[in-house]
Amino acid sequence: MHKILEDTHGRTVSYLRVSVTDRCNLRCTYCAGEGQEFIPHPDILRYEEILDFIGMVVDMGIEKIRFTGGEPFVRKGFGDFMIEAAKRYPDLDLCVTTNATLIKDYVKPLAEAGIRRVNISLDTLDPEKFKRITGRDHFAEVRANIDRCLEAGMRVKINAVAMRGFNDDELPAFVEFARENPLDMRFIEFMPVGLETGWDDATVWKAEEILTEAETYAELVPLTEDDKCQHGPARVFNIKGGKGRIGLISPYTNHFCGTCNRLRLTSDGNLRTCLFSDKVYRLRPVLRNPKLGLAAVEKILKKASRHKPIGHDLLERMPAGQGVCRTRMASIGG
Ligand code: 5AD
Ligand code: SF4
Repeated sequence: MHKILEDTHGRTVSYLRVSVTDRCNLRCTYCAGEGQEFIPHPDILRYEEILDFIGMVVDMGIEKIRFTGGEPFVRKGFGDFMIEAAKRYPDLDLCVTTNATLIKDYVKPLAEAGIRRVNISLDTLDPEKFKRITGRDHFAEVRANIDRCLEAGMRVKINAVAMRGFNDDELPAFVEFARENPLDMRFIEFMPVGLETGWDDATVWKAEEILTEAETYAELVPLTEDDKCQHGPARVFNIKGGKGRIGLISPYTNHFCGTCNRLRLTSDGNLRTCLFSDKVYRLRPVLRNPKLGLAAVEKILKKASRHKPIGHDLLERMPAGQGVCRTRMASIGG
């Protein structure tokens, strides 16, 4: 019998994002930036610790886990770890968010282990702009790896952070990309998470504006109610006569805190109940204390879930010119 995690706003927590590292081989301006300090290795949860933790949360009603980073594949052994997690928890919905620069050799083994879905972060289809936003020249690898994932039969969702003045001139190309490839091309409104991300109100390319413009390039057909459930907070449209879809995620203009079902575990074992809040529950010392361990962690998890905030309230109170929280996206994992 599952012990369901509930909060005081009537939300049920069923989804956990697990960041396995805060390191990344790219330096996306809005996420990591150069000159960042990394978490020291001994503070990073070991794979065995994460696997045990997953076992516990599965018993508490978590149905879906997404591995994130930084970039998960920069951590040594990540591909094998994910395969092991899939083996150990076959009923769990396991997925990963990656920049797809390093996934090449793992695509087949992951698909064979039953991992059928991958989210790939890609903000531009222009190799020069890719270099500008990520600080690294890896567009060609990413593009080739997207094809590899599709060939392996994976469901691919591409996530682009929608930024005025950066990728708002590329909408025709993005729509074409989704027309020609069986994938979801999703736009996420740029969020003020972390300091020094270059965010201000004018840099948010709003979902409604994207939709209106996209409709001039293609006939967009909303998904049926049945198909909608797989898409969480995204609004998704089929492209008439095309292979793929367009998705819009609007955390800024149209918040979905009311149905938020997620918790986050950072790579150093901090539990975060909301992307927009700096409040953390430090699980690592409890987990590593032989007198406390998982039983004590379970109690903290229940308490933390109960007090999960409505993040948008925090966003509305955000002081001008600052981020809603101090922690960079790279160490939270999106
Ligand atoms: N706003 C919106 N999305 C962001 N991501 C990283 N930083 C931001 C931000 N400030 C995205 C990444 C990745 C996902 C984990 O979060 O591009 O797709
Ligand atoms: Fe790395 Fe993704 Fe952050 Fe870019 S957005 S720096 S790829 S973790």
